[in-house]
Amino acid sequence: MRVQILGAGIVGLSVADELIRRGHEVTLVDPSPGSGASYAAAGMLSPAGEAWHGEEELTRLGLSSLGLWPSFAARLGVPMHTRGTLLAGVDAGDVQQVERQLAVLDLAGVRYERLLRRELLAREPGLGRVAGGAFLPEDHSVDPRAVVAALLDRLSPLVEPGERQRAGVETNTVADVTVVATGARLPAPYSSLIRPVRGDVVRVRTPERIERTVRAWVHGEQVYVVPRADTDEVVIGATSEERDGPLLPTVEGVWRLLDSARRVLPGLDRAAVVEVTSRDRPGTADNLPLVGPTDEPGVVLAAGAFRNGVLLAPLIARLVADHVETGVVEAAVDPRRFSRDTRSTGDSWT
Ligand code: GLY
Repeated sequence: MRVQILGAGIVGLSVADELIRRGHEVTLVDPSPGSGASYAAAGMLSPAGEAWHGEEELTRLGLSSLGLWPSFAARLGVPMHTRGTLLAGVDAGDVQQVERQLAVLDLAGVRYERLLRRELLAREPGLGRVAGGAFLPEDHSVDPRAVVAALLDRLSPLVEPGERQRAGVETNTVADVTVVATGARLPAPYSSLIRPVRGDVVRVRTPERIERTVRAWVHGEQVYVVPRADTDEVVIGATSEERDGPLLPTVEGVWRLLDSARRVLPGLDRAAVVEVTSRDRPGTADNLPLVGPTDEPGVVLAAGAFRNGVLLAPLIARLVADHVETGVVEAAVDPRRFSRDTRSTGDSWT
């Protein structure tokens, strides 16, 4: 098949890589590859850490994609950080939130270890005033910028700058299939399927050793701290706001992140701030991705990965390639679930 992919972020590139591996002919269109949410992402491969009530299907998809990551990372020559993830709560209410998350993991059959304060400190000696938490041994991380660079190493000759196609999907006359993977901004008539959810992220360099990803509740605020394997870089994220305006971090967002992070890991006070980034996550109405066919013949979505673009990239790639080859569709992520809903009320996608 000849496949045109709109968007060369981690999802579009992973789809391209999978299709090429299966012998298809691929071109990508993106004026600025890898510069969207993939550029800001911390790279948590963390289906358990992101699990929440009412999102069981998303947890299932995340666990399934996590299983694809070791071979995907190995093939790209990108290391995974495999020391697991700590959940931590600072006050009693925060520990209660951790407990609510553990209840979701119980239902999903995900393994974890509940930890008292001293057990948390034994695993991460730099922790501050945490009251309790848990260890998620299977939740890892990867550097998304390294993944994008490795994919672009192979694929950049296939990327055309093109324009972002806001007005509509221009199906290329040569391509059999057009895959839309343009992140938080989909072209018409799909744009209303995505709600951009802004996230500010801070990157620091620290002399302190942080062994594991820490996801904490800090007096009701959520923060995560993701150390990069074998470097002194640490990613602190992320705010979550449905707001428009220029892609610039806000003083409040950055202050909240840093305030929470330094309470959980006080050694971060001595870290050097090297970068502050703001990008929009591609959220959907049900927080599940949009992967598969649309009502336009030959147009396939690989979109709506929301908080899990890095985690879900290899699974989305596999689902898109399977669909292109056989027509099979994973019902939970079928983009037409929304058009079916709206058709019955007479509304349109636009
Ligand atoms: N998965 C982390 C985030 O979206 O902030």
